Amino acid sequence: MSRKIIVAGNWKMNTTLDEAKALAKGIVEAVKDVKDVEVVVCPPYINIAPVMEIVAGTNVAVGAQDIHWEESGAYTSKVSADMLLSHGVKYVILGHSEPRQYFGETDATVNKKTIVALAKGLIPIVCVGETLEEREADKIVEVLSTQTKGAFAGISADDAKKCVIAYEPVWAIGTGKTATPEMADDAHKVIRDILTEMYNTEVAQSITIQYGGSMKPDNAKELLAQPNIDGGLIGGAALKADSFYGIVSAK
Ligand code: PGA
Repeated sequence: MSRKIIVAGNWKMNTTLDEAKALAKGIVEAVKDVKDVEVVVCPPYINIAPVMEIVAGTNVAVGAQDIHWEESGAYTSKVSADMLLSHGVKYVILGHSEPRQYFGETDATVNKKTIVALAKGLIPIVCVGETLEEREADKIVEVLSTQTKGAFAGISADDAKKCVIAYEPVWAIGTGKTATPEMADDAHKVIRDILTEMYNTEVAQSITIQYGGSMKPDNAKELLAQPNIDGGLIGGAALKADSFYGIVSAK
């Protein structure tokens, strides 16, 4: 089954207004001839509108880095799905390990956000992945199972098929340590097995599963050549148009 290849840049808490505009312009120019890869940039909320102006009408889509699960109201500091949709946002990263680690994100909040994103028409990029301690304790399957089942609880097979999953081993994020292509592909297979158990083979085989964690132009080719790896969620290397393009063009 051919799955959509998606390479998304997670800009995290980086880029001032001018930097965001310059980066978006550089990426638009670099990827303008790319056809078979969906290219996504995920700027901080405040830079979504100016980036959207730059990417409008191009082959670059915009994602956000989070949403709140309520529609609107007294939730100081939060941003809703409707607000993002009104700006033309297509994707939203949910359950990234940084909010899990620093801002109290849990499988239950990831689930609520995934349900709302789907109901509103945003495409969730649901992040899962084990820490180094969990890997060393041989708990990869357990962790991926808990996180995937938690995020997708109560979500129908049809809705699950609309989601993207990002496998991001926590120990590889921003550390320069990348999972070997075999390690990553094995974890992606584990996630597909969990989806088969939860839903069926069709769902498991149709969901795009990105790899994330120190993906760079020089390791992207080997990672993207793996049968279960369908793109990347890129942090550091997404902050320069040429290195981001180096990954986008590695497929
Ligand atoms: P990294 O981040 O590419 O800088 O490791 C990936 C991510 O956190 O999505």
